[in-house]
Amino acid sequence: MTARTRVDGWAKVTGAARYAADHRLDNLAHAVLVTSTVPAGRIAELDVTEAERAPGALAVITHRNAPRLSPAGDFYVQTVLPLQDDLIRYEGEPVAVVVADRLERAGEAAALVRVTYETAPATVELDDALPDAYRLGAYFEPITSSVGDVAAGLERADVVVERTYTTAARHHSTMEPSATLAEWRDGMLTLYDATQGVFNVRDAVCAALDLPADRVRVIAEYVGGGFGCKGFVWPHQLIAPMAARTVGGAVKLVLTRAQTFTSHGYQPPTRQTVTLGAARDGRLTAIRHTSVNSTSTYADHLEMAAICSRAMYACPAIETDHLLAPVSTVLPTPMRAPSDGPGMVALESAMDELAYELDIDPVELRLRNYAERDPTKGRPFSSKALRACYAEGARRFGWADRPMRPGALRDGNDLVGWGMASATMATFAAPASARVSIDADGRVLVEAGSQEIGTGTRTVLCQLAAEALGCPPERVTIRLGDTTLPPTGMTAGSSTTMSVGSAVQLAARSLRTKLASMALAEGDAPAELARLDGDALVVEGAPRTPLRELIGDDPVGAEASWSPSTADVSMHTFGAVFAEVRIDADLCLPRVSRLVGVYSAGRIVNPLTARSQMIGGMTWGIGQALLERSPVDRRLGRFVNKNLAGYLVPVNADVPELDASFVDEHDEHAGTVGGRGIGELGAVGVGPAIANAVFHATGTRIRGLPIAPETLLRGDGDGRD
Ligand code: MOS
Repeated sequence: MTARTRVDGWAKVTGAARYAADHRLDNLAHAVLVTSTVPAGRIAELDVTEAERAPGALAVITHRNAPRLSPAGDFYVQTVLPLQDDLIRYEGEPVAVVVADRLERAGEAAALVRVTYETAPATVELDDALPDAYRLGAYFEPITSSVGDVAAGLERADVVVERTYTTAARHHSTMEPSATLAEWRDGMLTLYDATQGVFNVRDAVCAALDLPADRVRVIAEYVGGGFGCKGFVWPHQLIAPMAARTVGGAVKLVLTRAQTFTSHGYQPPTRQTVTLGAARDGRLTAIRHTSVNSTSTYADHLEMAAICSRAMYACPAIETDHLLAPVSTVLPTPMRAPSDGPGMVALESAMDELAYELDIDPVELRLRNYAERDPTKGRPFSSKALRACYAEGARRFGWADRPMRPGALRDGNDLVGWGMASATMATFAAPASARVSIDADGRVLVEAGSQEIGTGTRTVLCQLAAEALGCPPERVTIRLGDTTLPPTGMTAGSSTTMSVGSAVQLAARSLRTKLASMALAEGDAPAELARLDGDALVVEGAPRTPLRELIGDDPVGAEASWSPSTADVSMHTFGAVFAEVRIDADLCLPRVSRLVGVYSAGRIVNPLTARSQMIGGMTWGIGQALLERSPVDRRLGRFVNKNLAGYLVPVNADVPELDASFVDEHDEHAGTVGGRGIGELGAVGVGPAIANAVFHATGTRIRGLPIAPETLLRGDGDGRD
């Protein structure tokens, strides 16, 4: 379809777009959190007298005087309600919130809250918690899986590769820190919130504060990046409304950058073991993939890292398993490309190791194990064009010229390496509804509760509505991010284009049918008969009708809902990623010099915004491979780098020209849109492709990401500190 620049681009670059903290409310008070400085124990002493007397202080809320909260429901995965008891479960847990008339005064008063702790021993590192690892009873997907006989498959294999890989704890690092403005007025609570799910927030706030749904409205017009950290509901989203109710007005609570490391989840570190058995010709006889990730001591977050091994390669025997190890940090949470992202680091590194054991080209090895059907579920894929991705990616990269031997591509003082990996991401969808209406001047309004988190949702929905209505996109306005609009799911799991897009298409088609029927004065005229032409409707077999004559002064609209079907297919996105690294032989500094990704995701509605998603994701992959990690200090139980100076994300100088493209495809199972969703796919496969390229450059296999210069200098293949 058509490449279009963002419909909200002007609003964003001129500052007209309002993010949660940008909203100006009358008599707005400011809240500042006081958070625990120890990872475990209880509050020994808490003295708020000075804070309460500080200039401008309106309220100091602690566990002693906080309103009692009720359980906040399924989207409050954290489970522990804020300011309800004196226990400390993680460093950064709120112990008080101070509200004052001005932000500076709130900060001043917060500094006057005196807290001492009775500390308890705390385990904060995944490795230290392994002896306490446990298996969850149930999760969204089965926790274990088994098809065929893995032991027999390994027995009959000519080659067995068994390796353990680690991925680091990482933080989302959105440009917009989480923020909640809560206004309590006339018994009605309005929240302006940085969230990927306005309905989740409403439901959690209603449950926690015992309010009916019609007394709470949540608005998220624009969100400055979510990546998962704004998906579920976190303590500050309950604290802000609690504070607003306490002072009887409007309160603004913005997390500091440091608080974004502890006030919502992070991506947990994983430790994964992959066992591959293969015949001499490369065909897999067995796959076993097990993973353990850190979770908190009080609630569970499972990173389903082994899920990728259930569907990626054809193999008669596949086993997967997942364990959790409890640590005293805030609860981890999904982060862009959850599960498959860390999981493919292990599977695709192991495949590369197998390729070297067998002396088979890494692309060829993957083709010999190409899965035509989902090998675990035994179902066909909804659509899969991965073969074309391998071929096109190899062609664009020039893979045919690659020498198999590591260390063969030296260029001056640079060790050069070429590596590749597959990419895959489970596809998610959620029930969604939308309303499309038109006024007498031919202006179209599309409304859905769903959020724009920076991915281009407004633009894509605008295009889909215009296409379905038969009108130019310039006529269409999109309203999103409000619980008073038709309900949708959260903006997560790359689900929005398929889910909300389908609802918008259905509503637009239904409106077109309605207009055609009105023009022809007969029921259910085919939508295709009608076409919008400015402020008039053109219908085959009828005169051109001005809309004002047809519909009068009031807009006419149609609403529609879409739900994922339970069709018997397995739905995943796929891709092939090729990386070139250059490593200064003296400094051991790895740099990515070329990156090619070719993807299979069904129909691409807007090639421009889609490419932006892919190069954004690929940049995340560079971070995963080389830069991003959040180590925890064992003595203090704190994340060490609680700022963007110490937590390294790729900057322009780290990112070469990125070559991202899609194969032409339409997935008839992917809603009425035909596209499977891409927001996370780009962040998969890049990490292992780069790690494999590092091996190809150096002959040293690094099994822990990120690959830091010191790891390479040490050359022991262990990425841990
Ligand atoms: Mo995403 S990690 O499902 O917001």
